[in-house]
Amino acid sequence: MDTTGPTDRAAAAAPACAPAYRVAPGGTLRGSVQAPGDKSISHRAIMLGALADGATPVTGFLEGADSLATLAAFRAMGVRIDGPEQGRVLIRGVGRDGLAAPTAPLDVGNAGTAMRLLCGLLAGQRFASTLIGDASLSRRPMRRVTEPLARMGAAIEGTEAGTAPLVISPAPALAAIHYDMPMASAQVKSCLLLAGLYARGETCVTEPAVTRDHTERMLTTFGCPVRRAGATVCVQGGSRLRAAPVQVPADISSAAFFLVGASIADAADLTLPGVGINPTRIGVLSILEAMGARIEITNRRDCGAEPVADIRVQSAPLHGIEIPAEQVPLAIDEFPALFIAAACAEGETLLTGAAELRVKESDRIAVMAAGLAQLGVSAEVLPDGIRIRGVGQHGRLGGGTIDSHGDHRIAMAFAMAALRAEAPILVRDCENVRTSFPGFAALAAGAGLGIEEHDA
Ligand code: S3P
Repeated sequence: MDTTGPTDRAAAAAPACAPAYRVAPGGTLRGSVQAPGDKSISHRAIMLGALADGATPVTGFLEGADSLATLAAFRAMGVRIDGPEQGRVLIRGVGRDGLAAPTAPLDVGNAGTAMRLLCGLLAGQRFASTLIGDASLSRRPMRRVTEPLARMGAAIEGTEAGTAPLVISPAPALAAIHYDMPMASAQVKSCLLLAGLYARGETCVTEPAVTRDHTERMLTTFGCPVRRAGATVCVQGGSRLRAAPVQVPADISSAAFFLVGASIADAADLTLPGVGINPTRIGVLSILEAMGARIEITNRRDCGAEPVADIRVQSAPLHGIEIPAEQVPLAIDEFPALFIAAACAEGETLLTGAAELRVKESDRIAVMAAGLAQLGVSAEVLPDGIRIRGVGQHGRLGGGTIDSHGDHRIAMAFAMAALRAEAPILVRDCENVRTSFPGFAALAAGAGLGIEEHDA
């Protein structure tokens, strides 16, 4: 069974002098902000590019620690990769069976996507490998991937708690399965589809709710047929991939902090160009709009296999809502930011059906509730969600010191909260912001947030 790591252990693991943000109260966000490349798509570009026949040029690649960890893992398996240079990467694919045995454990740092997707991909190789990660990733549940992979015939050993290190032994041959996913997880789905490329027969995954479909889209772009029937998606074992250019859109999960920041600040007017608006990722837009946000989506176009648009957001009086269940997986990474919107809204916001938030980079329900309490906002922790009573259009958040528990999205969410605070907010332990959003503080400062980064 998946286990939830207590957040106090996360705090204990935090380095003594990680960078912190000191954010002045008030201010606004104006102008244009180019959010960095999409993290999910960047990981997948490296993985599929490495397995493809031919060279894959990537633009807009996220030069964050998570996607760089994936890049390093493939270099360690003999894949030649040029870059990254200003988001450009050239992956010289080695073909489906061309990876070389790594000589040391593959360390993917804080990156859950890297560990879970690689686990599936490595399960089908003819060599042994070991996946390791940082303290936070080493607490996160991995049985959700190792159990279905074992059903396919994979030989993977984790710890007794079902966590990394994951020691993967070569399996004679994987067999295709049809897996009914117990949780809505794009990482589990993608892991099994990647393993399915190495299995005999057709591997199918049925999802309980729609989750991000970047793997399916990119496999199709790489000439690998993906069959979809309702909630089930299937790949054929033995399929080969053909290199194809990948353009990575700006990450809506990173844009989310600015969407919330501009919604809660006074007199804000901000545009975020070229943001990915894949329908499986736009829960944050739907939820903010339902709360009364002023969001304009223009210049819709395709960026390779992914739709993108420019998003303009202006200040608006927000009101609390009951978040619709089907929106939860579509906004799963955006809840730390959305909880800040809820804290500034009029009335109550209720989220349920989101127990997955407890096994992210931190327990995002507990850590956000603790931070909101620091700012004087009433937040009731529920087993699978949270109830937040907002301060309303004319209300202000308090100031104070927030512990991000090493979680990048918690750190950025509370930095934005200062736009509606009456006293400075100090956010501790912000080192991991570099996993998804290198340069966040400078970019936010450029748009008007009174943020300063310093060693705490
Ligand atoms: C991701 C899937 C989601 C998300 C994560 C990235 C992906 O995780 O939270 O940040 O790239 O597939 P789950 O599959 O655990 O929901």
